Amino acid sequence: MSPLLITLQDLARRAPSTARNVLRRLGLAADTRQTASPTSRPTAPSTPAEGGPSIAPGPTAPDPAASWELRSQADLVAHIEGHYHAGLRRDLPGLLDAARRVEREHAQHPAVPAGLTDLLVAFADDVESHMAKEERMLFPALRTGARGGPLDMPMRMMEREHHSHAVQLDRIHGMTDDLTAPANADPAWTALYAAIATMEAELRQHVYLEDHVLFARATGER
Ligand SMILES: [Fe+2]
Ligand SMILES: [Fe+2]
Repeated sequence: MSPLLITLQDLARRAPSTARNVLRRLGLAADTRQTASPTSRPTAPSTPAEGGPSIAPGPTAPDPAASWELRSQADLVAHIEGHYHAGLRRDLPGLLDAARRVEREHAQHPAVPAGLTDLLVAFADDVESHMAKEERMLFPALRTGARGGPLDMPMRMMEREHHSHAVQLDRIHGMTDDLTAPANADPAWTALYAAIATMEAELRQHVYLEDHVLFARATGER
């Protein structure tokens, strides 16, 4: 359990309205003030189509699905594009620059994440291609509340690509000691791993909302 979630749970017990405000600011609760309990669990566990790592919130994460139950598909698409897609486009270039610097400046360090920049470049290319497909192929129809039929195949394709993102993140964890910088790392190295961890946490919520709310509604599963 992350320190953030422990804090939210404590806050929810002591000051529920403050906790709701925090969740709204994090984009995890809808403006209708229908917010998830910080201790609630996802109602539909994420299952990768092909096994292996999956992108899904941890078992104690706030349930963003519950927060979006009363919002329209159009609202949800706007939130995904405006918060998650825009955030990745804003933050990934800086992550690539930071990874390049850490690899170059610590090339002789035994814990240097050699190859991290190449992995992040491939990840960023795949994520951008994926978001562009969602925005062109799927979201215009989903925004209108369309369901099933010709949408099924592109939705399955997007779910498979979510699984590929998880595989890439798993490789990043493997080459960074689970995003743990060495004890003698400089602040830039520590900050790089923290920024990747933040990006990953956002991506997990992003994918959860797509797979278990947006797409699930369009296939009639919710
Ligand atoms: Fe997306
Ligand atoms: Fe997606």
